[in-house]
Amino acid sequence: METSSQERRDPVCGMDLTGIPDIVEVKVDGETFYFCSSMCADRFKTAPKKFQGEPMIHLHDVWKVFHDGDVTTEVLRGINIHIWPGDFTAIIGASGSGKSTLLNMIGLLDKPTSGGLFLDGADLAHTSEDDRALLRSKKFGFVFQQYNLIPWLTAYDNVTLPLIFAEAGNGLEREAIAKHFDTIGLGARMEHRPTELSGGEQQRVALLRAIANDPEILIGDEPTGNLDSVTGAKILDMLIALNKQEGKTLIVVTHDADIARKADQIITLKDGKTIPGHLEHAKTYTE
Ligand SMILES: Nc1ncnc2c1ncn2[C@@H]1O[C@H](COP(=O)(O)OP(=O)(O)OP(=O)(O)O)[C@@H](O)[C@H]1O
Ligand SMILES: [Mg+2]
Repeated sequence: METSSQERRDPVCGMDLTGIPDIVEVKVDGETFYFCSSMCADRFKTAPKKFQGEPMIHLHDVWKVFHDGDVTTEVLRGINIHIWPGDFTAIIGASGSGKSTLLNMIGLLDKPTSGGLFLDGADLAHTSEDDRALLRSKKFGFVFQQYNLIPWLTAYDNVTLPLIFAEAGNGLEREAIAKHFDTIGLGARMEHRPTELSGGEQQRVALLRAIANDPEILIGDEPTGNLDSVTGAKILDMLIALNKQEGKTLIVVTHDADIARKADQIITLKDGKTIPGHLEHAKTYTE
């Protein structure tokens, strides 16, 4: 990744290091690299070649500004983030700090007001809605706090709905989906409607829907927020298994300290910016 002389960036997390105290220096093969924290420095040392390459997702000086009549709200003010393939990233921060806004941007549900939004090296900040919709249906699976299941469709039909929008052959076969229902303990409930399922069961169905098109990237906005802690932990285990065993890139907005602690990278939002010290803040913004 190229950096100008004014802008020194952490190659791992992408943070702009200007004005950040306690920058960590690492020398690899005679070249010096700079990091926001020992966490990023340690990650770099495990795979220096990889972290000098192109991240899967790269936000470069992303701003999001809302205009409501005379009121202007700068929600994101120059966000720089790298997300690497197979990473589990937790996004934390106080309520209203812009977590959902940022996640929607990463998931191509929303566009930055300005800045670069790169996916596999291609800048998508200005791509048409049609192209972004196609990329969304191919690359991303979404799990929200509200399960957003369609009430008049069965659990099975809810799960297979995204396949209609994705290109044929890209998703899982019916048999594979039925097997997934078995795995999550809902094999007998595939033909039930959402109102006949508990919150935890509905979220499991929503999770199956998110992976039905076999996406590379799973995005969760407080996916366990509406669930009791035991049920939430089960959903989290399923997400982490998809990350660790199937290599899916996982990006989760959370208030849950347990989730944040298990992440490879923690992004903390404050005043529209990411703040350094990935690990220290996990306690501040979680319950
Ligand atoms: N479409 C919009 N128009 C105007 N302001 C908006 C819009 N969407 C979000 N905001 C504002 O942007 C700020 C960040 O909102 P966002 O939903 O991203 O926060 P959050 O960190 O996800 O909060 P929470 O933890 O409560 O979910 C809030 O002040 C919100 O009011
Ligand atoms: Mg939110």
